[in-house]
Amino acid sequence: MSEKDLLIDAAKQARENAHAPYSNFRVGAALRSTSGRIFTGCNVENASYGLTMCAERVAIFKAISEGERGFSAIAVVTDTDALTPPCGACRQLIWEFCGDVPVTMANLSGKRETLQMKELFPRPFDDSNL
Ligand code: THU
Repeated sequence: MSEKDLLIDAAKQARENAHAPYSNFRVGAALRSTSGRIFTGCNVENASYGLTMCAERVAIFKAISEGERGFSAIAVVTDTDALTPPCGACRQLIWEFCGDVPVTMANLSGKRETLQMKELFPRPFDDSNL
């Protein structure tokens, strides 16, 4: 299996744990660190709606909180025909911690597309603006 396939598979597995009783939109994410580890996340919703956390940010926070720094790719898996790109908040966080990495979006039917963060998030606000 290729590294990309492995990352998609990890995101698929993480999606199984999604807590999405309000939207029924289940998302899985997987983040590859430059040290070779894979960190996964799923969306975790809340009855107050606004406290919902996306799968991508869960994966990032898990990795960062475990001391990992430096990432080379991220995958996002949903079960929709139209592939799911990270939301705006997640793009900001992916840029902060991962920079211009490839973002692979995939669904359960085998459809996939990979875009660079620079395409998804042109002209970011980051530490270069401070
Ligand atoms: N969601 C994610 O987890 N990641 C995305 O990239 C898009 C949206 C979640 C948040 C919420 O639980 C549900 O999908 C519907 O917006």
